[in-house]
Amino acid sequence: MGGPPETDPIPLAKPEIGDREKELALEVLRSGRLSLGPMGERFEREFATWLGVDDAVAVSSGTTALHLGVRALGWGPGDEVLTSPFSFVASANCLLYEGARPVFCDVDPVTLNLDPSAVEAAAGERSAGILPIHIFGFPAAMPELEAIAANRGLGIVEDACEALGAVDSEGRRVGTRGNLAIFAFYANKQMTTGEGGMIVAPGPEAAARLRSERNQGRAPDMGWLDHDRLGFNYRLSDLAAALGVAQLEKLDAMLQRRVAVASLYEEGLAGLEGVTSPIAARGVERRSWFVYVVRLSDEADRDAIVDDLAEQGIASKAYLPCIHLIPHLRELGYEEGQFPVAEAASAHSLALPFFPSMTESQIARVCEALAESLS
Ligand SMILES: Cc1ncc(COP(=O)(O)O)c(C=O)c1O
Repeated sequence: MGGPPETDPIPLAKPEIGDREKELALEVLRSGRLSLGPMGERFEREFATWLGVDDAVAVSSGTTALHLGVRALGWGPGDEVLTSPFSFVASANCLLYEGARPVFCDVDPVTLNLDPSAVEAAAGERSAGILPIHIFGFPAAMPELEAIAANRGLGIVEDACEALGAVDSEGRRVGTRGNLAIFAFYANKQMTTGEGGMIVAPGPEAAARLRSERNQGRAPDMGWLDHDRLGFNYRLSDLAAALGVAQLEKLDAMLQRRVAVASLYEEGLAGLEGVTSPIAARGVERRSWFVYVVRLSDEADRDAIVDDLAEQGIASKAYLPCIHLIPHLRELGYEEGQFPVAEAASAHSLALPFFPSMTESQIARVCEALAESLS
């Protein structure tokens, strides 16, 4: 069956970079317009078209996108924002940057996304907003969370960094509900620009402010040394945008391939005692496959499994640590035992290698190695 030899290392993630990325990157290099040039604008336009929104604002990372998103909603000192402890740390850090307080709420055991009933229970006087994360590419319960937000007058920032292409319970693509939504393009994401992020703004005014803030507080018609508000350098370079344009051209194919790899895993792991595969879909909801994270039985020795797989050149990772237990968030008063569903998921989940070009034999190798380690 071709493909890499049976002993080659299998990484956790791997970007798909081809001739088109090189061609467009060269086009930028030859043009001399390395930042704030036409490639950046093209990337924003083509991303917005792909997603099905009017506009999108490119920035230097998912984290900087989240930071500007939090500022756009005006969350700051005295504000509490209801969010998930089962996430990547940036979704809470972005609140701390602005002096807002993350209030964690437990997650749903199947989707691992914010449980709306936990959000309702935790909401209070100081609540200013909700920051749901579409974790591992599974769509969060947006209609339910939006209902809570509407009742209580809360704003919403959606962290869709892991969910480009996911479809929610109302059949809508994640990021297209009119909330401010964030995507990210680090090399392990569904598409990459090396580093990069994108903000779907709730309207033209918000988009103009985001474009100004990412560019040192300049309006579009201003000179380099003119600034009309506090700003940052959160620009995405045109070189990175060139990668983004090339990746968008093959995004549908890459997403399809991720679906195929996930189903091969599901088949390969079927019947393996002590391993539960993640759900791909539920009703009209569709996961956009970001990572392949299995749930091990409570008795399994996860560290030993990671070591066994590593001995065979197979990367795997305990995934994800609960972010309320990271030292600087513990300082807010969080401790173990507060979010049992998230903590149990965190204690027993394992990410397996997952990328579009994974071959059948690589997937089989991972499944066999996992079965062997568990036996
Ligand atoms: C859920 C989530 N939020 C935020 C980020 C931050 O994105 P970036 O690494 O591009 O800053 C990531 C990326 O890893 C993520 O997975």
